[in-house]
Amino acid sequence: MDTKTLMEWSAKYHTPNYGRTPLVLVRGEGTRVWDSDNREYLDFTTGIAVTGLGHCHPVITGAIREAAATLLHVSNIFHNAPQVHLAKLLVEHSFADRVFFCNSGAEANEAALKVVRKYAKERLSSDRYEVIATNNSFHGRTLATVSATGQPKYHHGFEPLMPGFKHVPYNDLRAMERALDSHTAAILVEPIQGEGGVNIPDDGYLPGLRKLCDDSGALLIFDEVQTGVGRTGRLWAYQHWGVEPDVMTLAKALANGIPIGAMLCREDVATALTAGSHGSTFAGSAFVTSVALATLTTIIGDKLPERADHRGRELMDGARELQETLPVIKEVRGRGLLIGIELTKPAAPVVDACREAGLLVLTAGEKVVRLAPPLIVESADCKRALEILGGALAAAAK
Ligand SMILES: Cc1ncc(COP(=O)(O)O)c(C=O)c1O
Repeated sequence: MDTKTLMEWSAKYHTPNYGRTPLVLVRGEGTRVWDSDNREYLDFTTGIAVTGLGHCHPVITGAIREAAATLLHVSNIFHNAPQVHLAKLLVEHSFADRVFFCNSGAEANEAALKVVRKYAKERLSSDRYEVIATNNSFHGRTLATVSATGQPKYHHGFEPLMPGFKHVPYNDLRAMERALDSHTAAILVEPIQGEGGVNIPDDGYLPGLRKLCDDSGALLIFDEVQTGVGRTGRLWAYQHWGVEPDVMTLAKALANGIPIGAMLCREDVATALTAGSHGSTFAGSAFVTSVALATLTTIIGDKLPERADHRGRELMDGARELQETLPVIKEVRGRGLLIGIELTKPAAPVVDACREAGLLVLTAGEKVVRLAPPLIVESADCKRALEILGGALAAAAK
């Protein structure tokens, strides 16, 4: 079928909730994708920070083939071996003692919100149910997670939102301290805000939140749906600050593109999830956990977080060099391969110009160009991406 008809049908048959780029992508390999006219692109979007190992990585393709031919789904009425091995691997490489699997980032955050409410009500006090989140955050699109999300544009039309959430400015410890009260069950933050503009907190922020939680009994939830699994140059972003949460949520990159989510927590928190209190039909199927196991084993075994750290520094140095001659760049910030280039102008035309020149990049908020290449990206691809970006930014500056 020709590209034009496909896009017309897409516009006709889908609900109109996505503002889609006018491209039909048909094939991917490593850092590259091809469209239906066989044009090649460098993919610095990775399906929004999902395909950390790039497209069609041979280990992942092999794991998918083998898992598909062995066992797809049996439900959580039964045990399945890959799910157990994945939970063990996650526990051995994080702060956590226990893992709950689900199917997306929003579901992982739903599980986190449910567990902290139940824990606080049962262990602390029956009126401790509130979660304090931050402005500009993004936690998902279900009613609870959109209520937790601190961006009014995602709320419009869906009110009344779920009660039990407060929002305070990100990176503002005093505001968080003032908001904490006898109803607070938990604080929910992204260690680095992704969708909100690649916002990196001051060094004292996450340790300060840890202390506020320790002093008040509230639980600390880190939403690492975007920052986790090596993206920021550490396996988990919280490792940059040496602070451990009580609950952490993951999704996106955990199975390199096969849908999965996970909520990890400490032992005593997990005990709130008594048998039958929470669950999901598809969660942690033998298929998806086999693929996640292959993904995580490769990311850890090939030391890809370290590699992401090096490549990220190269990219940020290059972007800062561009800044010297292009005042349209206000700031370059990031950790590892989650990089934001804040502009003095809207970012969307720059994203379009990059695409025309063969580079796919994201926005994060109105004025930030977000780069999220795969963790396996080569230096030569970073150089090429910077050339294209430089050209697009120079045109935007005119
Ligand atoms: C930090 C964060 N949390 C949660 C989500 C929601 O994940 P999902 O789209 O898989 O529901 C996202 C998605 O972008 C995210 O970036």
